Amino acid sequence: MQNNKFYGTEKVSSISYLEFGAIDLDASRKLVWDLKLHQKAYDWYMHARYSNDILYYLTAGEKLDSLTLEEIIMMYSEEVHHKDDFSGSISKLVALAVAAAQSNSDTPLSFFELGQTLFGCIDAMKFCQSLMTQLGIAQKPIKLQEVQWHGLDISEFFNRLSVVMHSGYNLHTYNDMKHLHGKQDVFFAKGVTLLYAVRNVSQLVELLDTAKICIFDYSFATHEEHEVIIGSGKAVKYLWLDDFLQKLQELPGKVYIKKGNSFLDSKNKRVTLDCLYAEDNYCREYISIDNTVRSAFVSKIGQVKGAEILLDQENDRNSGWILLADFISMNLR
Ligand SMILES: C[S@@+](CC[C@H](N)C(=O)[O-])C[C@H]1O[C@@H](n2cnc3c(N)ncnc32)[C@H](O)[C@@H]1O
Repeated sequence: MQNNKFYGTEKVSSISYLEFGAIDLDASRKLVWDLKLHQKAYDWYMHARYSNDILYYLTAGEKLDSLTLEEIIMMYSEEVHHKDDFSGSISKLVALAVAAAQSNSDTPLSFFELGQTLFGCIDAMKFCQSLMTQLGIAQKPIKLQEVQWHGLDISEFFNRLSVVMHSGYNLHTYNDMKHLHGKQDVFFAKGVTLLYAVRNVSQLVELLDTAKICIFDYSFATHEEHEVIIGSGKAVKYLWLDDFLQKLQELPGKVYIKKGNSFLDSKNKRVTLDCLYAEDNYCREYISIDNTVRSAFVSKIGQVKGAEILLDQENDRNSGWILLADFISMNLR
C-alpha cells in the first residue's frame, strides 16, 4: 500500500500527522511512542473514530432492553462523534423507505455513499430501527441485510475494512466511479467528503445522477470558489453557488433545503445547505415521511432527559423544507 502521501493528489501543501505518546509527570517530559504522517495518519485516526461510533451502536442496540433510555442517550453523547449522527440515520432510513414504496419488491434496494469510511451508517441505521421498534414508531423496517450497499472511498484501507467489518451485508466498495453501474436508489455523502472529492460543479451533478434520491449537505461559496486546508490535512474546495444554480437548471430533479440545518456564514462568504435532491414526487414523499417519523420521535421521547441530542429538536422545530430557490431568495438576495 502506498501510504506516504495523500491518495488522489500530487500536490502536498500540508502534512497530516498522528502522534501517540505519554507525558512523564515526574520528569516533566513528553515521550513520543509513534508518529504517523500523511494518509496513514488520516486513515488510522478516522478508523479509530468511526470504529468507536460503530461500537456504540452495537452495544447500545444490545442493551436497549437492559438500560434506560436516559442511559442510552448519555452513552450516545459520550461516544458518538457527530452529534447529528442519529438524525442522519433517520434521514437515510426515510430515503430508503421512499425508494422501497416506489420499487418492485423483488428488486433489492441500493444505497451508495461517497466516502463511506467504515460504512458505519449501516450500524447506525440498524440501531435507529431497533429503537423505533422498541418505541412503537410504526414504520415498516428496511431489511438492511438485503440492501445493496455501495461505497466509494479514496482510501484502500477503508474500502477493505468496511467489507471485513460488515460480514452478512451485501457490501461493495470501490476507489473509482467507473465501477458503480446503473442508477441506485439512494445516494448519500457527508458535506466534508464532497468538499474533499468534488473539484467542479459537473462532478457534483454527476454524483446527483447516481441515484433516485440524494441526501447530502454542502457548503457553497457565495462569492467565488476557493480552496482551504482543514485540520485533517486535506484540501477542501468550496464551489460557487451560482455555478451550481446554473447547472441545476439542466437537471430533471428539484433541490429542497431543510431550513433548520441550513445557514449563511457571512464572515466566510459561504452558505451551508442540508439538501434533498430528487424528482419532485420523491421529494414530497420524503418530506412527508421525514416529518411523520421525526414527530413520532418527539412525542415518544421528547420528555426524556438529554433526548434533544437524538432529536435535533431545535432544528426540528424549524424543520420546514423549502425549495432551494426560495431559500436563496429569502436569505441571500
Ligand atoms: C469525514 S469522512 C466521511 C464521513 C462518514 N462516512 C460519515 O458519514 O460520517 C470522509 C471520507 O471521505 C473519504 N475521501 C476523502 N477524499 C476522497 C475522495 N477524493 N474521493 C472519495 N472519498 C474521499 C475519506 O477517506 C473518508 O473516508
